[in-house]
Amino acid sequence: MKYNFDHVLDRRASDSIKWNFFEEDVLPLWVADMDFLSPPEVLNALRKRIDHGVFGYSKTQDKTKSAVQDWLSNRHGWKVQTDDILIIPGVVQAFNVAAAAYSQPGDSVLIQTPAYHPYFYVSSNSQLHQIDSPLVCESSGYYSLDSSLFKHSLHPDTRTFMLCNPHNPTGRVFNESELHSMAQSCIENNTIICSDEIHSDIVHPGYKHIPIASLSSEIAHMSVTMVSATKSFNLAGLKSSAVIIPNPRLRELFSNQLSGFVGSVNVLGETALTASYEYGEDWLTELLNYLEGNRQLLLDFINNELPGINLFPPEGTYLAWLDCSELDLDDPADFILKQARVGLNSGEWFGENYSHYARINFGCPRETLTAALERIKSALLLR
Ligand SMILES: Cc1ncc(COP(=O)(O)O)c(C=O)c1O
Repeated sequence: MKYNFDHVLDRRASDSIKWNFFEEDVLPLWVADMDFLSPPEVLNALRKRIDHGVFGYSKTQDKTKSAVQDWLSNRHGWKVQTDDILIIPGVVQAFNVAAAAYSQPGDSVLIQTPAYHPYFYVSSNSQLHQIDSPLVCESSGYYSLDSSLFKHSLHPDTRTFMLCNPHNPTGRVFNESELHSMAQSCIENNTIICSDEIHSDIVHPGYKHIPIASLSSEIAHMSVTMVSATKSFNLAGLKSSAVIIPNPRLRELFSNQLSGFVGSVNVLGETALTASYEYGEDWLTELLNYLEGNRQLLLDFINNELPGINLFPPEGTYLAWLDCSELDLDDPADFILKQARVGLNSGEWFGENYSHYARINFGCPRETLTAALERIKSALLLR
């Protein structure tokens, strides 16, 4: 191993929200960033940029778009044109901009629940109606698409669908047939697919991320895809992302909506994004191995030591969606915070029907993960 993911860092002394939100004795395994150093190659590129010493307004460099193109092609087999790419500060901004650009006030936007919390603000941000189309949960805890439910959730005025793939919080990596089915329904309804693929590089063995727009030119024509190096290379605070819009008309509407509201990406964010895609592959390979070890540890611990908590193995992301219904607690994350001093996300954050869930972030050194799980075990034994 060239990189050391076991190293425990003091993040409390930094400006980390993850580590400074709760009281000091709490181990935080909530917000979606990891407790690992970014790749040294990226840190070196940042140092070099800082040494230049001037940080004026930036213009997207050609090499940034080339890095995005090469990454998407090599990693996900998706060929995109240079002109289709926009570099902007963030994915949350991007899906809000898309909803505003393609809708009129009073139209509807469809989201799939459980959902990453910021999707719940898209409707109010652009005066839209929100339609919830739940993913269906089998008794095993496996979430999947109900094609008919999805199709019938789309209304004539549903201009945008917010797809999250890989899915936060369930960890699903949607398969080709699910993606085709969603895309077909959207095309028939003239609904634009806003595909948040920010977690696309974190996919566990046996699964493959498929960019929905790569399935056909017809689907690409109806889609806006958002990717970023920020999850994969732990750069969330540097705020940079890429939006791919092959349809020139949709791209124009998106760009018009951006101007005046969303500024250029910050220069260090762009440097980090480019360096990650250019030099980060080996680091990512080792990260994925390490995360696979953590995922296995988490599953074994839950199955053997935490009766009352169930987890269907996540297919992607470093997040796990813990079904705590058998514990019979109003808010399991709150119990775990108060009694175990471990900070998780409460299931309610992902939709009103999910209060019996908690989300845990296993993107941390194994020592931290083990300590947190031991704390939860002790708290459950004492209750
Ligand atoms: C599904 C999803 N989309 C977007 C984001 C955040 O994106 P950004 O920081 O680029 O706004 C996150 C962060 O957790 C996420 O999980």
